[in-house]
Amino acid sequence: MSSTNCRLNKPKRILKTSSSENLAWPRFLSKVTSMDKNFLTTSDFTCDELSAFIESALRFKRGEDSAKPLNGKSVGLVFFNPSLRTRASMQVGIYELGGNPVVLEPGGTSWTIEHRDGVVMDGDKTEHIKEFVRVLERYVAAIGVRTFAHLKDWQEERTDPILNAFARYSSVPIINLESAMHHPCQSMADMMTIREKFGLEKKKVLLTWAWHPKPLPMAVPNSFALASAQMGHDLVIAHPRIYELDEELMANVKTQSADNGGSVEIVNDVDAAFDSVEVVYAKSWGSKNFYGNQDADIQERAQYRGKWIVNEEKMAQTNNAIFMHCLPVRRNVIVTDGVIDSPRSFVIDEAENRLHIQKAIMARLIH
Ligand code: CP
Repeated sequence: MSSTNCRLNKPKRILKTSSSENLAWPRFLSKVTSMDKNFLTTSDFTCDELSAFIESALRFKRGEDSAKPLNGKSVGLVFFNPSLRTRASMQVGIYELGGNPVVLEPGGTSWTIEHRDGVVMDGDKTEHIKEFVRVLERYVAAIGVRTFAHLKDWQEERTDPILNAFARYSSVPIINLESAMHHPCQSMADMMTIREKFGLEKKKVLLTWAWHPKPLPMAVPNSFALASAQMGHDLVIAHPRIYELDEELMANVKTQSADNGGSVEIVNDVDAAFDSVEVVYAKSWGSKNFYGNQDADIQERAQYRGKWIVNEEKMAQTNNAIFMHCLPVRRNVIVTDGVIDSPRSFVIDEAENRLHIQKAIMARLIH
């Protein structure tokens, strides 16, 4: 019997197993069956593969798997932006798998990087990504990359240019540690947390926009919506008008949802959004309509201050929902103290699960 909730999704290919394979991994997933070696977005993987990552992460968490597949290997961690959870959990995870993390901060502890092809590098960028990646991969077995959206040019940033340049020039696996469009390690920790709290049943899951003083990237809501759809949950996405997610991303979310037995509903009325949901996932994001004009976004969102916040009244409308947020979170802006400090808040478990799911991902991808 399947230990996943992937009712309709079937593995794309069945690969032969070898005698040395990890027997804890389902036989039909003896190798990662997605199209490539990287972990850039969950949509490169089937529901069965994502569920297998979660099963593996749960074994790491329970202490049932103490394998050291990174023994003697190093992993590069390239951080263009700040981090607590991602950086610490990756460093600890690599250590626990027997490997050695090498943290680089372009513009800080390493050279500034140019990613565009064919440019005359007479500005503030010191090294081209072509050399950066091809040198780094001579030292490391995989590269994790954090590169946020700059919220300046929507048409360019929606293509994830820096992350994809890493993937283009690298022959070792690239792991997305949050790019302009995706944060798949976060969304897998989120799906693991929902699975821990509720088991395999699909749930009614709310992704709600929240007011924040300035526009933020969309990677977390994009990836949460996508992974929820892939896992077959009934997804409600609530946001004010003008804060729609990317159209192509949403088309993929709807296709994945249909393929995996879920549903997708968009709600613009925050007072109606919380009705009977079982998971509340709060996140603020900027409008793609205002990329390059932060002041216009700040002016637009001002009307939502105090309305689009997760508080005790809204949680009371739910079906005893749990509260989730990727963190960091601004208290009494995104969520009230009463909600985040309540017994139904699982934000710390969610953050812990980053460690376990990333160990599962690295153990599977890095050879
Ligand atoms: N959720 C998350 O990615 O946290 P950090 O930005 O601290 O890594």
